[in-house]
Parts: sequence; structure tokens; C-alpha cells
Amino acid sequence: MVEPRIKIAPSILSADFARLGEQVVEADRAGADYIHVDVMDGQFVPPITIGSVVVAAIRPCTDIPLDVHLMIESPERQLEQFARAGAAIITVHAEVCPDLRQEVRAIKALGVKAGVSVNPATPIDIIDYILPELDLVLVMSVNPGYAGQQFMEDVVDKIALVREILDQRGLAAELEVDGGITADTAPKAVAAGARVLVAGSAIFNSKKSVAQAMDRLRASVVGLTG
Ligand code: DX5
Ligand code: ZN
Repeated sequence: MVEPRIKIAPSILSADFARLGEQVVEADRAGADYIHVDVMDGQFVPPITIGSVVVAAIRPCTDIPLDVHLMIESPERQLEQFARAGAAIITVHAEVCPDLRQEVRAIKALGVKAGVSVNPATPIDIIDYILPELDLVLVMSVNPGYAGQQFMEDVVDKIALVREILDQRGLAAELEVDGGITADTAPKAVAAGARVLVAGSAIFNSKKSVAQAMDRLRASVVGLTG
């Protein structure tokens, strides 16, 4: 069997915002699979970060899909503008969506792939019914809000559980993990079943170049998916 290729999604939250376009190009040249965009509203999480104008600004810098992670309340009010700005994937948080099915269908109706994310403390059962409709499941391995936090080890079991459910039911949703991913923690996430790794600090705040940091991350997970 061919080993599934692990995708890497550099999070621009840790990039140098004064030269954001260049950093996106660096990640592109280094072989990034997605560019992960962390949108925070100061409500669902304390910080305010990036809005759709920034998504539109980086869209011409790369052909790589923009993976937009909405850490915001009432995401339904923002879907259209992020789709119009060029998001390829929009992920909403299960914690703020009373009707996930409606949300996911609204994203897809805009021609965008749909993801749902769960915080470390959120049980996976609440997204179980919607899994067949998802393009992506995003398991948070830190409490959302800040880059540079430590990977929460107890999330590994949750990753494994989601992997098992997806495989058992033959579902195609990608399993993405976000928070505290480094060359030390990535192997645990991948061995448990993650196939897309979001990494901010490990890629943009490393002493190495973006390309070297991405190579290091990729090398750390070779051979772990068989
Ligand atoms: C956290 C964000 C993450 C974060 C990742 O709320 O969703 O995407 O930027 O940063 P690191 O890789 O530094 O944990
Ligand atoms: Zn994120």
C-alpha cells in the first residue's frame, strides 16, 4: 500500500506580518500543502487577528489552497466574505454552531470545502452525525487563541478515535491537527492518524529558514503512516 502523504499547513499567525506576502511565497516554495489562516474575533477567543481582507491580499501570492480556520462566534455571518476573498477550505468551531449541518451546507454552497474543529475539551460525539459531509476534521491540540503553546498529549487519543471512525466508515474527511506541532510532537499526531499538520511557531519562528523548518517537520513523520 502506498503510504498516505502527510500534508503541512504553515500557520501565518506566526509569520512576519510586515512581509506577509513574502512569507507565504517562502512557504509555497518550501512545499506547503495549505496556507493556514487563523481568524480570531476577540469573542470566541481573546485576540483579534486576521480578517477576509488579509485572505484576499495573500490570495494572489500563491496557488496553494488557503485553509481558513474561523475561531469566531456566529461564523455564518462571515462565510460569504471569506469565500469571496479566496478561501479554499473554511473550518468552523463545533462549540459555536448550534446547527452544524446548516453551517457545513452553507460553506459548501459557496463552492468551498467545509471543515469542523473541536477544542481539546470538546468530545468528538457532537460532530459524529456530520462527519459524512465534512471535507476536513480539525482536532485542536491546544486551546485556541495563541500560537506557541504546548501540544496537549491527551488529545492523541481523540485523534486516534477520529481516525478509527473515519476509516471504519470509509469517510474521506482529512484529519488535521493544530497546536504545538513540532518535530517532537508531529510523530505522535501522525502515528495516531493525523494527515494534515498545522504548524505556526515551528515553521515561522524557528532559527532555521522556512524551508529547513518544513523539511525537519516532514522528516520527523516519515514512515509513520503505514
Ligand atoms: C491556535 C491556532 C493555531 C496556531 C498554531 O489558536 O489555531 O493555528 O497558530 O501555532 P503553533 O504551531 O505555534 O502552536
Ligand atoms: Zn489554526
